[in-house]
Amino acid sequence: MNPNKELWEKGDFTRIAASMRESGEALVKDLGVANGLDVLDLGCGDGTTALPAARLGANVLGVDIASNLVEAGNARAQSLGLSNCRFQEGDASDLQEIKEDSFDLVISIFGAMFAPKPFEVAKEVVRVTRPGGRIVMGNWIPNDPTLVAQILKICSSYSPPPAEGFISPMTWGVEDNVIERFGAAGVPEDKIRFKRDTYTFNFPVAPSELLAEFRAYYGPTMNAFEAATANGREHDLQAELQALFNEQNTGASKDATSIPATFLRVTVGL
Ligand SMILES: C[S@@+](CC[C@H](N)C(=O)[O-])C[C@H]1O[C@@H](n2cnc3c(N)ncnc32)[C@H](O)[C@@H]1O
Repeated sequence: MNPNKELWEKGDFTRIAASMRESGEALVKDLGVANGLDVLDLGCGDGTTALPAARLGANVLGVDIASNLVEAGNARAQSLGLSNCRFQEGDASDLQEIKEDSFDLVISIFGAMFAPKPFEVAKEVVRVTRPGGRIVMGNWIPNDPTLVAQILKICSSYSPPPAEGFISPMTWGVEDNVIERFGAAGVPEDKIRFKRDTYTFNFPVAPSELLAEFRAYYGPTMNAFEAATANGREHDLQAELQALFNEQNTGASKDATSIPATFLRVTVGL
């Protein structure tokens, strides 16, 4: 089994995505998605950005490595009556089923960054984007002090060292790496723009409940808890994450969670 696929099928990202809907919708609006635009959403999960793009009239294909999320995305599109949005399984580093120059806009929000072989990812997204089209990636930033970068940092400190040759997904949050990867795919540096942006995780209950969702359903956190439990460090991990969620919460009360997280927004114009 592909370990990348296994990681994301292990949990159920729909449970986390439920707290990301407002930011997903706002981001898509900000991209100026319009009627008839052909959009690929790569590492789309259950459609946090794909469905709002389809609601704005785009023809959307969502591609994700996790079959459970593809199924969830198709069910959501169907229940919303969006016949212009479909989801299929695929790997961001090898989009063999997609012809070149197929899309006006390729979006990948915290998606393709998790695929191994980042140079292949850049090559593939450039290949399937039409000349004059756009690629927009949202990538978490290494050592950023906000929620997700910190969750991933804390989790990796409780997990066994990665296999040799593993390239951290967080390297997509470093501008020089992004320039190098798209450069190798034939994109000059002056076609790439960077911006710090924010996603807010909103959940109508206490931060401890959102942490419980991450612990039970988010692959990287699940793996860290498994490793920590095996080493007798489960309570330390729980305490570290709980302190993080509490500190970062800007919700109006202790029983409402609203946690902003900073990411690197990358826009590539072809
Ligand atoms: C953090 S989730 C983000 C999902 C979605 N973009 C959102 O904003 O809700 C990461 C997603 O990337 C997908 N993914 C990871 N590796 C992938 C790969 N190699 N190819 C395609 N999708 C991948 C996962 O299955 C998961 O749905």
